[in-house]
Amino acid sequence: HPHLAYRDGRLWLEAVALDTLAERFGTPLFVYSKAAMLEALSAYQRGLEGRDGLICYAMKANSTLAVLQLFARAGCGFDIVSGGELQRALAAGADPAKIIFSGVGKTRAEMNAALDAGIGCFNVESEAELEVLSAVALARGQRAPVSLRVNPNVDAKTHPYISTGLKSNKFGIAHERAVRVYRHAAGLPGLRVIGIDCHIGSQITDSTPYLDALERVLDLVDAIEAEGLRLEHLDFGGGLGIDYHGETPPAADALWRLLLERLDARGYGNRRLLVEPGRSLVGNAGVCLTEVLYLKPGDEKNFCIVDAAMNDLPRPAMYEAYHEIVPLRPGAARSDAPLWDVVGPVCESGDWLGRDRALDPAVGDRLAVLSAGAYCMSMASNYNTRPRAAEVLVDGAAVHLIRQRERLPDLWKHEMLLD
Ligand code: LLP
Repeated sequence: HPHLAYRDGRLWLEAVALDTLAERFGTPLFVYSKAAMLEALSAYQRGLEGRDGLICYAMKANSTLAVLQLFARAGCGFDIVSGGELQRALAAGADPAKIIFSGVGKTRAEMNAALDAGIGCFNVESEAELEVLSAVALARGQRAPVSLRVNPNVDAKTHPYISTGLKSNKFGIAHERAVRVYRHAAGLPGLRVIGIDCHIGSQITDSTPYLDALERVLDLVDAIEAEGLRLEHLDFGGGLGIDYHGETPPAADALWRLLLERLDARGYGNRRLLVEPGRSLVGNAGVCLTEVLYLKPGDEKNFCIVDAAMNDLPRPAMYEAYHEIVPLRPGAARSDAPLWDVVGPVCESGDWLGRDRALDPAVGDRLAVLSAGAYCMSMASNYNTRPRAAEVLVDGAAVHLIRQRERLPDLWKHEMLLD
């Protein structure tokens, strides 16, 4: 966690003591470090330096406007997966030409909106989608720029719910069919075939699956170009993992050194290269602050009940994901500290944030759930009619509120009572 450290008995993010933010804005509260986000981005920028590269932030990881604005100003494009993400990206100042549109289920309305905006590329995931996109573009007298997402059939060795590069996944076009589908796409009148892409999974902590996927994709590029088609860009997706609990993923620049070596060796080093990182740009730039409401020690388990829950931080409930949990003001270390399950107020046994954690909590203490910058706020819900948390971005000693805590009436403003 860059820029997160204890000083003088308090936990700081950059030059802001986190307890002051909890005091001022209440909890649960997401806090992000601008420097941590920009440093994560600069690892990719270094990795692609001197190349024709474009970093398209996979905004599903954290789609808060100010976060998107930060990346747009830093020159990023965006990887979007819905018409909603398209409008969000545009609202944050994204350059439409740098937007790529992924996802297996684009609707005609979403395709039209993306063509209206003039996005850079559609990452098409099936033959059926090619037909529809071609027809939609043709009806407008346009040719839609497309890349085909191919499925390299490599095992990213990550959680099954976030692994996407195997044949058994719903994503992408099977390796074996890819050349045939390219041939077909090239003949469709509403399309302009400009690239190839893949995305093999998320929270990948090793270079090997990337290198394997690269070789497989380049084999396809060889075969596709042997038929006379020329691909302007190669897109290697996202997926690079972060350190939640001692994982040691390669740094983005180190990974790209390896990838570029292979690309150069196979003669593709000068192509336009795209990446779609999400988690690795924002995950370890954010924390979620929460307050201890009750302690409930028991025979089998000790429960530490906090005011953040699975609706704020869904990853533990959904993937049994591990997030480090630390106090904002640690007391004197107690060697016999018992183990606590940190749980939220939601009425589900799956509502836990951490299990068997060595903590020494007291009611009213505040805790920070770490690695909460990615896939937390963007997956938050209003389950149990809980308003979604506020978000703050810190920049040195400056504090920016970037999302207000939801107000209760907002939660039912689109609902109607019966007459
Ligand atoms: N590109 C495509 C086509 C994707 O499907 C994804 C993520 C990304 C890029 C960005 O992947 P990243 O760099 O963030 O790994 N909610 C899950 C993660 C789902 C990832 C879905 N696709 C979690 O909390 O772990």
